[in-house]
Amino acid sequence: MAGRREGALMRENSQSVYKSRIILAIAIGVFFGCVLTFFFPNGHFLSSSFSPSLNRRLSNALSQVGSTSCESSGRINMLKTEYMVAFEKNKDLKVQVRELTEKLRLVEQEKDQVQKQVQILDVQKKAGAFGTVKGLRTNPTVVPDESVNPRLAKILEKVAVNGELIVALANSNVKEMLEVWFSNIKRVGIPNYLVVALDHEIAKLCKSKNVPFYERDPDEGIDTVARTGGNHAVSGLKFRVLREFLQLGYSVLLSDVDIVYLQNPFDHLHRDSDVESMTDGHDNRTAYGFDDVFDDPAMGWARFAHTMRMWVFNSGFFYIRPTIPSIELLDRVAGRLSREVNSWDQAVFNEELFFPSHNGYEGLHASRRTMDFYMFMNSKVLFKTVRQDARLSKLKPVIVHVNYHPDKLPRMRAVVEYYVNGNQDALKPFPVGSDW
Ligand SMILES: *[C@@H]1O[C@H](CO)[C@@H](O)[C@H](O)[C@H]1NC(C)=O
Repeated sequence: MAGRREGALMRENSQSVYKSRIILAIAIGVFFGCVLTFFFPNGHFLSSSFSPSLNRRLSNALSQVGSTSCESSGRINMLKTEYMVAFEKNKDLKVQVRELTEKLRLVEQEKDQVQKQVQILDVQKKAGAFGTVKGLRTNPTVVPDESVNPRLAKILEKVAVNGELIVALANSNVKEMLEVWFSNIKRVGIPNYLVVALDHEIAKLCKSKNVPFYERDPDEGIDTVARTGGNHAVSGLKFRVLREFLQLGYSVLLSDVDIVYLQNPFDHLHRDSDVESMTDGHDNRTAYGFDDVFDDPAMGWARFAHTMRMWVFNSGFFYIRPTIPSIELLDRVAGRLSREVNSWDQAVFNEELFFPSHNGYEGLHASRRTMDFYMFMNSKVLFKTVRQDARLSKLKPVIVHVNYHPDKLPRMRAVVEYYVNGNQDALKPFPVGSDW
């Protein structure tokens, strides 16, 4: 009797234990829901961002909870930890996906370029059907020649990413701007940039700030000009120094130092031309070219003469690929700057790029692309148009070049204040143009 009663009691007990287990399991389920909602408020859990193996482990863990709920609090802690791990992994995965997408894009681009280069090597072929033919834009790159400058070659091996890098020339006259320049490059997280230090003070500054630099051999003839000379001499030197980078097989994004970097420019290049440059233009027409009609009433019926116009490429920010036409361009510009005392490097750069062959003159055959003038923004576009426009002022450019204004340093700082620190009033104190 006693035995039977005990037996019944035990059965009752085990039934209540069973009930409480179910209640606990439900409670844990609810707790789970809360944890998930907390960590994955957008409901991305179990969708694309979790790996299948994680999913499996999670559902295993869930079924285990149902069967052994007595160890609940220990389990909950364990699961919490597991969720934290999963959460961290999820973040890692997202970064990896982003990196892979970027790599894929670069590979696609390379494939495209290889295809274009293969086309060059084809000797002769028939033209394709209407609308399918395409001339060459992307010329083949030169074979790298390390003997040109072994010391620079070593530096570039370390600094360049995918065979390309940002290069700026600087002497002590632009020291403060250079500091704004590289601190923004660092903030954006661009690893592949190099300062060509034209004097020892700049080399020292770069060293102390952990900025990659290349100090020119001071005994070399052209460099004496750079150290003693003003802006103009440095401009001429720029094209000679650039030549060595191209000969070593690198693509260079040449950059003045009055430029604020807000995004990584290498994510926004097309790489389909010998020269891809920012423009001094300020709208679709002036940046990309238009038909400027010249009126000569004396001609009566033929009074309108159509002309081709475009605002110049900005020779302070351009991407140049290591091709023969690119190197020819640098040689032609450097040659003319050394012979013509009063010429301006940007004017010469554009004349060489755009004037066609005629009479005794042979034009350069280089392909060209104008960068998007809102993404690679000059300071006229910013101060005259963008800051007044509700929509445009919300877009973040890749770079802003303070090329149109002499008060460069305060305007650079204001650009940082506006785009980086979100100070909406930062650009307001400045007039549209300079007051002379
Ligand atoms: C400039 O061109 C782009 C496309 O090339 C176009 O979307 C935009 O509306 C144009 N802007 C103006 C002001 O015409």
